[in-house]
Amino acid sequence: MGYSLQDKKDVADLSREEAEEEIEALREEIRRHDYLYYVKNQPRVSDAHYDRLKRRLEEMEERFPDLVTPDSPTQRVGAPPADEFRTVEHVALMLSLDTADEAELRAFDRRVKRELGVERVSYVVEPKLDGLSVEILYEDGIYTQGATRGDGMRGEDVTENIKTIRAVPLKLRPGERGLPSFLAVRGEVIMHIDEFEKWNQERVETGKEPMANPRNAAAGSLRRLNPRETAERPLDIFFYDLMEVEMGDLTVDEHWDALGLLRSWGLKVNEHVQLCHSVEEVIAYHQKMEGQREDLGYEIDGIVAKVNRLEYRERLGTKTRSPRWAIAYKFPPRKEVTQIQRIAVQVGRTGTLTPVALLKPVDVKGVTVSRATLHNLDYLRDNDIREGDWVKVMRAGDVIPEVVESLKERRTGKEKEFEMPGSCPVCGSNVVRDGAYYRCTGGLSCPAQLKRSIEHFGSKGAMDIEGLGGKTVDLLVERGLVNRISDLYRLGEEDLTALPRFAQKSAHNLLDALEESKGQSLARVIYALGIPHVGEHTARLLAERYQNMDALMDASEEELQAIPEIGPEIARSVVEFFAEEHNREEISRLQELGVRMEYERQGGSLDGLTFVFTGGLEGFTREEAKEAVESRGGRASSSVSGKVDYVVVGTEPGSKYDRAKELGLRIIDEQEFRQLLGV
Ligand code: IVH
Repeated sequence: MGYSLQDKKDVADLSREEAEEEIEALREEIRRHDYLYYVKNQPRVSDAHYDRLKRRLEEMEERFPDLVTPDSPTQRVGAPPADEFRTVEHVALMLSLDTADEAELRAFDRRVKRELGVERVSYVVEPKLDGLSVEILYEDGIYTQGATRGDGMRGEDVTENIKTIRAVPLKLRPGERGLPSFLAVRGEVIMHIDEFEKWNQERVETGKEPMANPRNAAAGSLRRLNPRETAERPLDIFFYDLMEVEMGDLTVDEHWDALGLLRSWGLKVNEHVQLCHSVEEVIAYHQKMEGQREDLGYEIDGIVAKVNRLEYRERLGTKTRSPRWAIAYKFPPRKEVTQIQRIAVQVGRTGTLTPVALLKPVDVKGVTVSRATLHNLDYLRDNDIREGDWVKVMRAGDVIPEVVESLKERRTGKEKEFEMPGSCPVCGSNVVRDGAYYRCTGGLSCPAQLKRSIEHFGSKGAMDIEGLGGKTVDLLVERGLVNRISDLYRLGEEDLTALPRFAQKSAHNLLDALEESKGQSLARVIYALGIPHVGEHTARLLAERYQNMDALMDASEEELQAIPEIGPEIARSVVEFFAEEHNREEISRLQELGVRMEYERQGGSLDGLTFVFTGGLEGFTREEAKEAVESRGGRASSSVSGKVDYVVVGTEPGSKYDRAKELGLRIIDEQEFRQLLGV
């Protein structure tokens, strides 16, 4: 293999011909290292060397843009954010798997043999990965499409997002027989547990809700509208199915061979796949993998056994949702026995009291568990769980483990039935019952509710105050700097720099974010107040209907219920919230401190105007820009046509910019856009 950085001229001194001559070899070299690093997990060069290669390629492509190709390693990230995902049809239905225990697996094996009329069947066994399945297409060896499972027939087109996963080659490696002209493959996108934990930790530190488990994190990451966000998530993939291949006279008879072909083209296949010649071997494999489960570094919840011969698969066929030739043999849940030392009560944002078991620490397959949720009082009663009980604790790949069962035979008579306290353990206010739940009536005078409410107030869908994470909020409340939401807007630099881990820079950032949040839309302000049952959507409906906070505060239940989509429960909740004098006072304080409480349509200034965005804006995400236009009566479109009034061009605009110039549309930059918005 022959690419070396040695004796290479500076890119600035290269002629176009020289660049053209070199560029493909350089790309191949980068692809080779990507393959070694991301697929084989055997890096051969230092990061610094790799970066030099990458930089040289970027410089060349910058100098000679016409030499850029879609399969270039520089092209993983760069697509502009999408407005929505279109859907695409799968090459064949994406099926689910039936699940089985050992007895059912044996029955499955007997049925397979009976239906085929054979005595022996071989199975390929694979880990059952706990991520999300995708279908990926290659044409002439080049990555062209990636889609989620969707409803099985059609999935969401997440081509640009999957492209950012480094283990997905943009160009296949020619195997011994060269490249297929068409290839459809399926695999599972996953997030490794250590990466998940690191990433979740960052979320918590920046005030975002942690994700429950790596699967949800992977799924959420793949569905970002902005591929740049997907690119920041540590995703990986394993391929496990070859759906269609066109390559001369190539025929594939066995799934085992198919996996070999995938590997030969540089696609990552799980290293633990194995060929078994009897159901006993499948059972042994299940046992072996269960033993290795905690050391894999990614979540698996069982194994999959697939009939190896493809002709047999054809003959066995499929049921409506699942094949007759494959089955999932799951692992039993991860449970351990330990003792509840005490049942504590946690107070949430709306005052709901949740019983939490404080456990004698126990190792549940590699994770020390010392707290587990008990949901609510009914759950405790229905399952007869008492303080002092020995219990089974389950960890389902989720962040919060749960107590699933108490061991009655281990009782000594000293166990105590749990009673909900009559007063809040945090603030001492009365506790009232509300269906299955108990609630502290302290409202925002309760520090626990206050903390969680402030966190909600600053959260992404609400006032979106960056840097106001859970830990910061706890500190602000505990130090008495914030006793009510409006106190946030009275914070000064000295208040913040006195806090541990708060440097001047982070203090400034938080103060800036607070200042900026004062201009958030009325809908966000309503949502941020945390009125029970009022989510983001309802808040928008209320903002549109009432146009300002004062009018909303005086709305009656009947009036509210007249709004389509608003039922009696929401209406009552809104009226009750504003009937509380301290809530009204807090709203006036917020208003006095400069928080906008008016619907932002400014004289309908954008009424009837259509906007298109291309490229990145400094001060707005695409979503915010759209919201700004729509809230002023305008429309945001995703495509350029003669009907468009303004094309807002940001950094690195896409093809929409060229099209806009062709059509002679009015093109404005961010500054002019701001002027139109009046911000
Ligand atoms: S094969 C009909 N192989 O499990 C064949 N699926 O319940 C189904 N999965 O949607 C796909 N690991 O997301 C297959 N080694 C593996 C798998 C696997 C995980 C997931 C996949 C699928 C679901 C089916």
